[in-house]
Amino acid sequence: MIFSFPLLSAEEAAALVEHGQTVGFSGFTPAGAPKAIPMAIAERAIAEHQAGREFQIGVLTGASTGTSLDGALAKADAISFRTPYQSDPALRARINAGQTRFFDMHLSLMPQATRYGFLGPVHWAVVEASDLTAGGGIVLTSSVGCAPTFCNKAEKIIVELNHRHPPTLLGMHDIYEPADPPHRREIPIYAASDRIGSPVIKVDPARIAGVVETAADDETHGFADATPITEKIGENVAEFLAAEIAAGRVPKSFLPIQSGVGDIANAVLGALGKHPDIPAFEMYTEVLQDSVIRLMKNERVKFASSCSLTVSHATLRSVYDNLEWFRKRILLRPQEISNNPEVIRRLGIISINTAIEVDIFGNVNSTHVMGRQMMNGIGGSGDFTRNAYLSVFTCPSTAKGGKISTIVPLVSHMDHSEHSVQIVATEYGIADLRGRSPYERATMIIQNCAHPDFRDELNGYLEMVEGGHTPQTLTAAFKLHEQYLRTGDMRGVDWRQFVG
Ligand code: COA
Repeated sequence: MIFSFPLLSAEEAAALVEHGQTVGFSGFTPAGAPKAIPMAIAERAIAEHQAGREFQIGVLTGASTGTSLDGALAKADAISFRTPYQSDPALRARINAGQTRFFDMHLSLMPQATRYGFLGPVHWAVVEASDLTAGGGIVLTSSVGCAPTFCNKAEKIIVELNHRHPPTLLGMHDIYEPADPPHRREIPIYAASDRIGSPVIKVDPARIAGVVETAADDETHGFADATPITEKIGENVAEFLAAEIAAGRVPKSFLPIQSGVGDIANAVLGALGKHPDIPAFEMYTEVLQDSVIRLMKNERVKFASSCSLTVSHATLRSVYDNLEWFRKRILLRPQEISNNPEVIRRLGIISINTAIEVDIFGNVNSTHVMGRQMMNGIGGSGDFTRNAYLSVFTCPSTAKGGKISTIVPLVSHMDHSEHSVQIVATEYGIADLRGRSPYERATMIIQNCAHPDFRDELNGYLEMVEGGHTPQTLTAAFKLHEQYLRTGDMRGVDWRQFVG
């Protein structure tokens, strides 16, 4: 027993979960996700399948998780339904093969969609904790995600008490759930560092079915070093933002930054940190990567509000070794608050996210390769982009060794429309779309952002069209994609057949 809670093995905990039930797991990209219990559920599924019995569960999370959760459950064919975001190769393959139902949704909406009952009943909350009190106080680990809502909504809770995370994490989290309409009030955050909730999730101890003790690292990995391309994208964004300060369109004291996941985001933050005309700044974001911790240590980032601490093991260790110092500078919030449109609009966030492709009119695809294959999901990019003070999308100008132009006539899937996207940045430069007509946007994106190998081709597309507010030719709009699917290369599209 731990206090009055039964101490369970992971297998005993997994045995409590029944076929057809829905489990809400803590975790966010993939910090703070349980590991031992989902692995044991996967083992159980394999055994049930071998015995000729069905066994699948619905899996709700905060965002992506690690190989022990999404990976193990996908490989065991144990997931019937999954939302809101994933990045595991095995799960992605099953989703794209039509074997697992996946619902891609804005991360800020996940907690309220769960509370509203839009996703059905939640039978179990399985949450990773760094500490637990006798009265049912749960101290989370390296993320908050959707854990408070799962704990409040689920019939029963199982705690995975992970001793890799110190109990002294108490105070790093700010747990707050808004009331539901028609009783919701404003979320009282007026600065990135405002604390509005409780440091622990409080639940009725009677609802905790058991505790599984573990000592496992987060399944996060470090990032690749900046390449000349990611470095140049970062410099372009930093130069642009410094010029916005000089022009008086961004306050001299700067505005809080949201930055997406991945190597480009890491490089962009590095460039912001190095730029002499950008003052030390705050972050109001959903994911903190290694670069932020580095910038914090150099006093270039003053404070960071986030939903998760998605850093390499060495960086996490350095945070835990200096917890007193970092606790004053980092606050982890539920995704409903870290990604809240009301707060993002109020604070005036500068959002910087990565695109898979951007069309010449400024529409952005963040999720699908060639219109069909799901990559990860929209994540928080829509929450931030739609409500930002300034919304920036970055991407290299080409993919797959130069054979794909990330700048295309029409995106093959649209996540963010031209109405929300303001700045596009590649290694070649910036297109500032504010106040520009579709034709002006197109010429600017081609000239400033497209790879030189594709500029004539994209200009050829634009020249073909006569009239209309948006110079689009529906019969030819996907010609680059079509040619890539046929030949493996987007270069050298011949527009002559479409002219006249
Ligand atoms: N066509 C085909 N493939 C493309 C492509 C395109 N236009 N653009 C990128 N890719 C491929 C890359 O080649 C790479 O594949 P590989 O690993 O097989 O080589 C893969 O997509 C990832 O691209 P990469 O350049 O490594 O980018 P990334 O790791 O920075 O991820 C996103 C880019 C868009 C997938 C990622 O940022 C994401 O999932 N975004 C949505 C969620 C989000 O923005 N959240 C924001 C808040 S955290």
